Amino acid sequence: MKNIVLFASGSGSNVENIVQHFQESTNVTIAMVLTNKRDAKVLDRCNRLNIRSLYFNRTAFQHTDCVLDLLKSVKPDLIVLAGFLWKIPEKIIRAFPNKIINIHPALLPKYGGKGMYGDNVHKAVKEQGETETGITIHYVNENYDEGAIIHQAKTKVTSNDKVEDIASKVHALEYEHFPKVIEQLLVGL
Ligand code: GAR
Repeated sequence: MKNIVLFASGSGSNVENIVQHFQESTNVTIAMVLTNKRDAKVLDRCNRLNIRSLYFNRTAFQHTDCVLDLLKSVKPDLIVLAGFLWKIPEKIIRAFPNKIINIHPALLPKYGGKGMYGDNVHKAVKEQGETETGITIHYVNENYDEGAIIHQAKTKVTSNDKVEDIASKVHALEYEHFPKVIEQLLVGL
């Protein structure tokens, strides 16, 4: 059985979609979901879906080995950032080489970096008058949004699209592609 640990900071609709994708799987299981937001909606989703979840604060994450030790004890085959907004500490990246992936709601290298998350990204895409946007699934390294790209998918943007229209097009791509890419990576391990 392959184990996944998911990290999320907010709503967790991708987490729910990934959990549902693997619900009937006989070779992939969601070990747990970790969040840095005490009141994140993802925690309610995990309760409803019967998935173990834990909240940690900045000290536990960045200044102690608390989260690192937890991950080491779970021995995940893949760590998946699904809307997680803190930078991953180097010691965690070093402990899990090529085992941490992130989804970004734009076509990197465009619209990446610090502060570029969620609707901020879609606003920037609209302001720049882009005719397309998309998703990027990539490995995580020490710099925000700069790890090797695993998969990208595109969608069209029209001048009539509002920020929320762009967001829902991008979310639709995430729901379609992210679980499949995770599955392919796990099969290859
Ligand atoms: C997703 O669109 C994801 O790509 C984005 O946050 C959203 C989380 O939605 N991630 C980033 O912006 C990371 N820089 P969700 O909580 O509903 O899954």
